[in-house]
Parts: sequence; structure tokens; C-alpha cells
Amino acid sequence: MMVFGIEITLWLVCGVILSLIVAAVVFFFVLLQLFIYMTTGVCKSKRKMNGKTVIITGCTSGIGKETARDLAHRGARLIMACRNVQAANKLKDLLKRSKPSRVVVVASELYRLASLNLDNLNPVTTFPAYLYYVSKYANIVFSLELARRLEGTGITVNCLHPGLIDSGIWRSVPAPLSWGLYLIIRGFFKTPKQGAQTTIHLAVSEELEGVTGKYFLDCRVSILTFDSILVTSNTSSNSFQFQEYGLSSGVKDPAKAKKFWELSETIVNLQSSDPKI
Ligand SMILES: NC(=O)c1ccc[n+]([C@@H]2O[C@H](COP(=O)([O-])OP(=O)(O)OC[C@H]3O[C@@H](n4cnc5c(N)ncnc54)[C@H](OP(=O)(O)O)[C@@H]3O)[C@@H](O)[C@H]2O)c1
Repeated sequence: MMVFGIEITLWLVCGVILSLIVAAVVFFFVLLQLFIYMTTGVCKSKRKMNGKTVIITGCTSGIGKETARDLAHRGARLIMACRNVQAANKLKDLLKRSKPSRVVVVASELYRLASLNLDNLNPVTTFPAYLYYVSKYANIVFSLELARRLEGTGITVNCLHPGLIDSGIWRSVPAPLSWGLYLIIRGFFKTPKQGAQTTIHLAVSEELEGVTGKYFLDCRVSILTFDSILVTSNTSSNSFQFQEYGLSSGVKDPAKAKKFWELSETIVNLQSSDPKI
């Protein structure tokens, strides 16, 4: 009888502990969703895009698809450049003719895990994910260099990190890694619609007229930080400050960007007769 009583108590304790664990997991999940919801940047601009032409690459899926959908609702004329080299060549002339115009480059915070070796731009002997990080690094170097080259032409160039998005990009992750990843993606990543907000913001928002050469995250170019500022030599004051997102010094190096640009011209086989930026 005594043993039976202890067993029931044990079961009860186990039940309570299990319930507490489940409650903690659910609470954590809800809190995280709330955090994602509250920190996700949303494009607030209601601007119509009638009469504007927008060229989007990679719009058959994910962020590009949502961006195309949003811009189409705003009345833009869309050119969906899906793996089409011809369209890219015509892009610059079209942008110049229709200025003020904007170039928006979707990069990623993952660029921080890479570096750009000008002697080996395509390090195929490293692991595949590293090639992706390098490509995102190159995206940022490219957009900052393009912004410099187009300064004063009426064409602005900005780049962004969209966040972590539940999109087609994860399809290529091999099993069994993909099984665990699936739950994390479904639980914690943003939807493609949320992921498209910063791209849309950069493409349409009135407040960004003339803004160029910047890196955005969650529709913001800067982040609110809590800083301790030295007021005099022996007093300091604490205050909230907006600070621009810090890009690593490597991606901001203009000399390296110029060399990268010239190398890219060779790689894409640009001829001397081709128009140059
Ligand atoms: N998802 C994320 O968490 C995340 C995070 C940071 C940055 N990003 C960036 O966001 C951008 C959009 O990604 P996504 O998440 O929306 O991915 P996605 O759902 O896989 O969409 C990728 C799009 O790009 C096109 N594409 C892929 N390779 C191409 C190539 N070699 N040439 C031309 N088009 C190509 C695809 O076209 P097809 O249909 O023809 O394959 C598709 O339309 C990417 O630049 C990615 O690096 C994504």
C-alpha cells in the first residue's frame, strides 16, 4: 500500500515537472513570436507606384515573389527578370532614363562569416555554405561601389538584410540537418511577406529619396543603442542613441571594391565596346 502511495506521488511529481516544462516551452515560443512580431520592420509607406517600372530578379519564390506581389498591388509595371542575362544588360539605361530610380540589393548578415579574397573570388574548395557567405559579402561590396559610381546620377543604391525567412532557400539543406532545421524554420523564422518588408521599404518609401550607399535591417538604417557618453573628462552620461548599423571595415574598403568591380567585369566578359558605369 505504501509502495503504491509512493508510486502515485512519483507519477504526480513527474506529471507536474513535465507540465512545467511544456508550459515553459510554450511560454518561450509565444514570447519569441511576440519578439519577432514586435521587432520585424514593416514598410509603412502607402505610396502608389503607377507609372513606375520595377525590375525584380529572383521573384519566382520567397522574398522576391512577395516583393513583386506588393509592388504590383501598388500599380508598378513589373519586369520579372528570371535568370535572364539580356534583361540585366538593359537595366542601367532604363534606370538612367527613368530617374530618380533605385537599386535594391538583398544581402545578408551572414556576410560577416566570410571575407573576399580577390585572388580567389570563387573558393569552391571550401564548404558550400561558405560560398553563400562570400556571395553575400560580394553583394554588399558591389552595392556600395555601385552607389559610389552612380553618385549624382539620380540613381540610388542600397542593400539590406531581410532577416531569417521561411523561404525556398532552405530547400537545398541536406537531410538529416534539414529535419531539425524544418522545425526551427517553421517556429521561429519570418514569413516571406515579413521578409519582403525591408526590400519594399527601400523601393518605395518617400523618406528614402536620395538616400544611397546604406545598409538596412528591419526597415531601419540604424539601431537604438544605450551608450555611456563621456561628457567631461570625469563625468559621463548614459543615453539612448541611434547608431548606423556597423558594416565591417572590409566591405567598406573603396580600393578593394574598385578592384573587385574590375575583376567582375572580366569574369562577366564585358567588352570594351560595352557600356560601362
Ligand atoms: N531566406 C532567408 O532567411 C534569407 C536571409 C538573408 C538573405 N536572404 C537573401 O534573400 C534573397 C532571396 O532569397 P529567398 O529567401 O527569397 O530564396 P528563394 O525562395 O529560394 O528564392 C530565390 C529566388 O532567386 C532565384 N534564383 C536562385 N538562383 C538564381 C540564379 N543563379 N540566377 C537567377 N535567379 C536565381 C530563384 O529562381 P528559380 O525559381 O529559378 O530557382 C528564386 O526566384 C537571396 O538573395 C538570399 O540570399 C535570404
